[in-house]
Amino acid sequence: MSATITSIAHYLPPDIYNNDYFATYLETTNDWIMERTGISERRFAKEGANSDLIVPAAKECIEKRGITPNDIDCIIVATVTPDHMFPSTACVVQNKLGIKNAWGFDLSAACSGFVFAFVTAAKLVESGAVKRVLLCGSDKMSSIVNFQDRSQAILFGDGAGVCIVEKSDDPEMGLLDHILRVDGNGGQYLNQVAGGSFKPASHETVDKGEHYIFQDGQPVFKHAVVGMADVSVEIMKKNNLTSDDIAYLVPHQANLRIIAATAKRMGLNPDKVMINIEKYGNTTAGTIPICLSEWNQNGKLQKGDRLILSSFGAGFTWGSIYLRWNMNN
Ligand code: COA
Repeated sequence: MSATITSIAHYLPPDIYNNDYFATYLETTNDWIMERTGISERRFAKEGANSDLIVPAAKECIEKRGITPNDIDCIIVATVTPDHMFPSTACVVQNKLGIKNAWGFDLSAACSGFVFAFVTAAKLVESGAVKRVLLCGSDKMSSIVNFQDRSQAILFGDGAGVCIVEKSDDPEMGLLDHILRVDGNGGQYLNQVAGGSFKPASHETVDKGEHYIFQDGQPVFKHAVVGMADVSVEIMKKNNLTSDDIAYLVPHQANLRIIAATAKRMGLNPDKVMINIEKYGNTTAGTIPICLSEWNQNGKLQKGDRLILSSFGAGFTWGSIYLRWNMNN
């Protein structure tokens, strides 16, 4: 028995900010950003909360599956930018969609959020505990980015990807294997220090900018290159997969150089790598489901395609998934 994605959709806010936008007020250039990150533009939501990115994608996803909101019995939201500290964004989404008789929760694993939440959703389905999970990977990074810091302002964007996870009709399809890891020692390099119980909000935390992202870019970069490639190669070996067997690597979109290094270690040509970082930047938990949804929408995913999903993020958290795509185009 395996669990699989049976419907998928995404939502990106309409307002586009290209690299020249940052060059108007920060010491940076389009060339530097393109060369060091591969990002050309990103979307920022001018109003609303994270749940306002999720809800349109969720509605489309449910409609495409031909079911009603009440057919969902569990909602998981992977995010680091929840609407509130509590209640969970899963509760907000439930209420906005009017889903009855469901339960749900948020999952915090930063850029690995979707990968961790997908495995969680699949195991809940496989165990028989739930029938259909509304699985949301979504972040409104513009709510925590320091727009005065050129080394982080240019990296992130807002966006949501939503899918439905349920029992696979074919046990050889869907989520077939995973490798997931955390290393809390990495927390010092990428975090949001204040606002939780460690450092509750105060005038001092606001004055010091401690509600923004803190990032020491180079150690994050170095660990990401090694971590993402390691688990991607390991899952290939574990499942006797060669690069010829793989239709696509679906990598977290943090930096084009990290993606390229991972693909190289896996022996994959660039045409076998899903890349849309140039359009959306790093939408944290949104990147992987947005990629899957876009490729599916554009008819570039075929039933039976072998995919490796791969992520690295704050925590540190990282992981890979071996997935056989089980949706007809
Ligand atoms: N424009 C121009 N210069 C910039 C800049 C920008 N937007 N951002 C940083 N710089 C400068 C730095 O200030 C530094 O200047 P200095 O040498 O005078 O101090 C110089 O560029 C080199 O900085 P460095 O940090 O070595 O650059 P880098 O090549 O490592 O690229 C990141 C910086 C942030 C793009 C890169 O480290 C990165 O992508 N890290 C991982 C981030 C990530 O993935 N985060 C999400 C978690 S998955």
